[in-house]
Amino acid sequence: MTNMKPPLVLFIFISVSLEALPVSVTGDNVGAYHPTDDIAVDCGSNTSFLVGRRNWIGDAADSSDYSPNEKTHSSTAAEASSSSPSIPSAAPYLTARLSRSEFAYTFHVNAGPKFVRLHFFPSDYPNFRRVDSFFSVEAAGYTLLRNFSASHFADYSPSVGFFSKEFCLSVGEDQILKITLTPTPGNSDAYAFVNGIEVVSMPERLYYNAVIDSNEGIKFAGQTTPYTLDTTKALEAVKRLNVGGQYVSPAYDTGMYRTWEADDEYVTSSYTGVFSFNTTTQLNYGEQVPNYTAPDSVYTTARTMGTHKNINLSYKLTWSVVVDTNFTYLVRLHFCQCQMEINEPLDRVFKIFMNSQLVDADVISWSGKGVPVYRDFTVAPYDGGKKRTNLSVALGALLHGSTFYSDAILNGLEIFKISDPDRNLAGLNSDPTPPASKASSSLSKAAKIAVVAGGTSGFTVLSLLAFFLYRRRNRAKDSTSSDGTSRWGPVSHATTKSTKSRGSSLPSDLSRHFSLAEIRAATNNFDKVFIIGVGGFGNVYKGYVDGGATPVAIKRLNQGSQQGLHEFRTEIEMLSQLRHLHLVSLIGFCKDAGEMILVYDYMARGTLKDHLYNTDNPPLPWKQRLEICIGAAWGLHYLHSGAKHTIIHRDVKTTNILLNEKWVAKVSDFGLSKVGPTRESKTHVSTAVKGTFGYLDPEYYRRQRLTDKSDVYSFGVVLFEVLCARPAVSRMAPMEQISLAEWAQSCCKSGSVEEMVDPHLKGAIALECLNKFCEIAMSCLQDEGAKRPSMNDVVWGLNFALQLQVSTELEVKDHAGVSVHDSDDSDHDAASIRGSGSDEAINTSDSDSGGWKSSRETVTSTRAGSNDVCDESMTSYDSEKLP
Ligand SMILES: *[C@@H]1O[C@H](CO)[C@@H](O)[C@H](O)[C@H]1NC(C)=O
Ligand SMILES: *[C@@H]1O[C@H](CO)[C@@H](O)[C@H](O)[C@H]1NC(C)=O
Ligand SMILES: *[C@@H]1O[C@H](CO)[C@@H](O)[C@H](O)[C@H]1NC(C)=O
Ligand SMILES: *[C@@H]1O[C@H](CO)[C@@H](O)[C@H](O)[C@H]1NC(C)=O
Ligand SMILES: *[C@@H]1O[C@H](CO)[C@@H](O)[C@H](O)[C@H]1NC(C)=O
Ligand SMILES: *[C@@H]1O[C@H](CO)[C@@H](O)[C@H](O)[C@H]1NC(C)=O
Ligand SMILES: *[C@@H]1O[C@H](CO)[C@@H](O)[C@H](O)[C@H]1NC(C)=O
Ligand SMILES: *[C@@H]1O[C@H](CO)[C@@H](O)[C@H](O)[C@H]1NC(C)=O
Repeated sequence: MTNMKPPLVLFIFISVSLEALPVSVTGDNVGAYHPTDDIAVDCGSNTSFLVGRRNWIGDAADSSDYSPNEKTHSSTAAEASSSSPSIPSAAPYLTARLSRSEFAYTFHVNAGPKFVRLHFFPSDYPNFRRVDSFFSVEAAGYTLLRNFSASHFADYSPSVGFFSKEFCLSVGEDQILKITLTPTPGNSDAYAFVNGIEVVSMPERLYYNAVIDSNEGIKFAGQTTPYTLDTTKALEAVKRLNVGGQYVSPAYDTGMYRTWEADDEYVTSSYTGVFSFNTTTQLNYGEQVPNYTAPDSVYTTARTMGTHKNINLSYKLTWSVVVDTNFTYLVRLHFCQCQMEINEPLDRVFKIFMNSQLVDADVISWSGKGVPVYRDFTVAPYDGGKKRTNLSVALGALLHGSTFYSDAILNGLEIFKISDPDRNLAGLNSDPTPPASKASSSLSKAAKIAVVAGGTSGFTVLSLLAFFLYRRRNRAKDSTSSDGTSRWGPVSHATTKSTKSRGSSLPSDLSRHFSLAEIRAATNNFDKVFIIGVGGFGNVYKGYVDGGATPVAIKRLNQGSQQGLHEFRTEIEMLSQLRHLHLVSLIGFCKDAGEMILVYDYMARGTLKDHLYNTDNPPLPWKQRLEICIGAAWGLHYLHSGAKHTIIHRDVKTTNILLNEKWVAKVSDFGLSKVGPTRESKTHVSTAVKGTFGYLDPEYYRRQRLTDKSDVYSFGVVLFEVLCARPAVSRMAPMEQISLAEWAQSCCKSGSVEEMVDPHLKGAIALECLNKFCEIAMSCLQDEGAKRPSMNDVVWGLNFALQLQVSTELEVKDHAGVSVHDSDDSDHDAASIRGSGSDEAINTSDSDSGGWKSSRETVTSTRAGSNDVCDESMTSYDSEKLP
């Protein structure tokens, strides 16, 4: 095995080994249900493809059982003209069946409820333009989609180019299931297409006629009249979330190939709660909630509220999903009470608010310990004349006295749209359902809506932004003003004790302890082919845990690494307390047999740097770059002022900004090099200047005073790197251009900014947006730290720049009738498979240090008391008080 990893080979290896991983975790219920009808059609393909254990049957082979019937025999089987790096497998996405006239598929299936999934990959196909798909889909007499534009949907949803729509409907005795696709009439370019169709049976009482116990059927939230979901209704799955857990792929469902998403992006409360894990828990499925209801991984992960009463009582843990109004929704909440300290009824009673209606919950008394249970509710969200609104589910704690623990729990959440009396599931038009998400994306969405509503008036946008940011800032302040205990409670003991001996003092310990055996299984005994990054500290591997359900990045510290046990503990302690959408999360650690291993969320798209000037990757469109910058700025803002103490990153650069599969930016590597006293010990940081050349704050360099403004400086360099798509230091460039920071400053001062802009972005950046962006980046590079903006100001400014871009594009669109479209992702290999921490020492280090390793070595700590020197961290406090 060589050190060079041909990315494609790596990719294939990983997919293969994912399938080969044993699925033998305790109580594992993967495949617990065997569907009687299990059909997967790869539309437009003349062969069959085995993906995982499923056979996707081509509909274009002469002998195919699933060839469509057509009114005019004019449908076309074709291959997509482009691919997308994120497509999980060729089948069913890379071929499609398309037609400008009606066509239909028929399925001879058993009677009973079925899942019908339609898979789409909107792309240009020979003779069919991506933007022209407008069509309706009917099945078994229900309208599933009407005048639906797949490209529009993909562009405005968080999907990554391809997506599927899942429906549930019941097929009667002797009924043939017919699925008809019809292009929207009156538009000669309109065509209908589909890439894949699945028909899979489901248990009779999974969603239909599900009864929990005799006196509780599905109820309108807060009302006592039961509602029957009988088989005359069809459902569309709107969202299916593994709360507090990870994405569960169809292969790891209970046999019905459902997809369970991670819930991070749908948590909209100011606090996102904490995760609780206990892999050793043996789940006991009862008769009411059989073992196929949801994967074990849904019931063994959850979110709870926090460890502090004042925090638990101060907020409601909330999930929001945007839905069409004028429909009724079925909301299923999954629970499983596995935590050690919760044993008796009344131990943990909480309230569930569903669009402001109220239900009391006491999971233990519903089902008992370790017994999965769910509750169904129906909600009819109404929001004036609006087409869409947020459907929200909120959990609230009760005061001590009404319950023993003021806390709440949720393990899983499913939301379905119920067909209306006209047997229709389609919204009013093809408008997409934008995702409800936090921080930057919901902000930009809110602002986009305001731009539309307020026409070209920028004022609406601004006041909306101001309000939003004001709110966020105050929330952040609230969290710092709690009393002396940590927000998320003690975690440090965990590093010295094994899982089994962790006492009851650590009930909601955030860091999961992995055994070395688990880590070895996850990485095939540290097989080199799993390496996704190499640094001074050791290797980073990609691995899968939880029986293959969860991809993770595993950082194995060199045995001989300078990093001592103390730093290892510090990182775990620090990271465990930091949970933010824009920070890479630490999942757990392993400290067996002298190993020091950290396990993080896997970031599918690697580093920001990879997407700026790595020619393996297609250039990122401008708006996406802006959104990534905004996300990273949020992450740093949280480090500086959202956590208990100011945390200075000290090594902000494009290799430390990682991207997940949905392009959400996450700041990484803020664990080992950070400043800020911990609760038990004061940390003293050597004053030797460390960091990465090219990003280094000159003031810090001169005065050796480290403040949060040093991160702001580095972030300014990142902004210019994003704008210009070139490294912070470029040795081969002409003298005056070697340092990006210097060159950028001189260009901005001489008004020749356009010279340095990434040629791929020529003409794509609105002038006002460019000016604003440069103004922010320049202010970050101010020589004097005190003159630089705070990260909060940077977030604010970048959002404003984004709005300037968006409103200019809307104006252009209004005036010219042209839609502003980001081009398709072009074909691309799997080079983006990198893990968190895939940080290579940049080979332009300054002489005394530079690179990853040495910057970590500078963290030293003493256990002495108050006499400790901690001037740098004090500086950072002082600076926070500056106006
Ligand atoms: C699921 O439950 C059924 C019936 O109780 C049982 O026969 C089956 O073995 C279980 N399957 C799994 C994977 O646990
Ligand atoms: C199947 O389709 C491919 C291209 O899509 C074509 O090259 C091949 O000849 C076809 N095979 C059969 C048996 O029709
Ligand atoms: C279909 O949707 C498009 C875009 O939303 C709209 O312009 C068109 O009028 C719609 N057609 C029908 C028949 O509703
Ligand atoms: C996990 O659950 C088992 C069984 O319920 C319990 O014995 C064990 O202490 C739990 N471990 C943790 C860390 O909560
Ligand atoms: C919802 O339904 C009501 C009554 O049918 C109708 O007046 C209203 O326009 C509908 N709202 C939307 C957004 O379609
Ligand atoms: C949903 O909520 C988010 C934030 O909570 C907000 O930004 C968005 O505008 C809401 N969407 C709708 C359609 O009300
Ligand atoms: C708040 O929630 C945590 C998290 O489970 C729980 O351990 C704690 O006891 C709760 N606080 C109070 C005061 O009940
Ligand atoms: C750094 O540069 C040296 C010599 O220029 C080279 O030998 C080494 O492989 C480079 N390291 C990296 C990580 O690129």
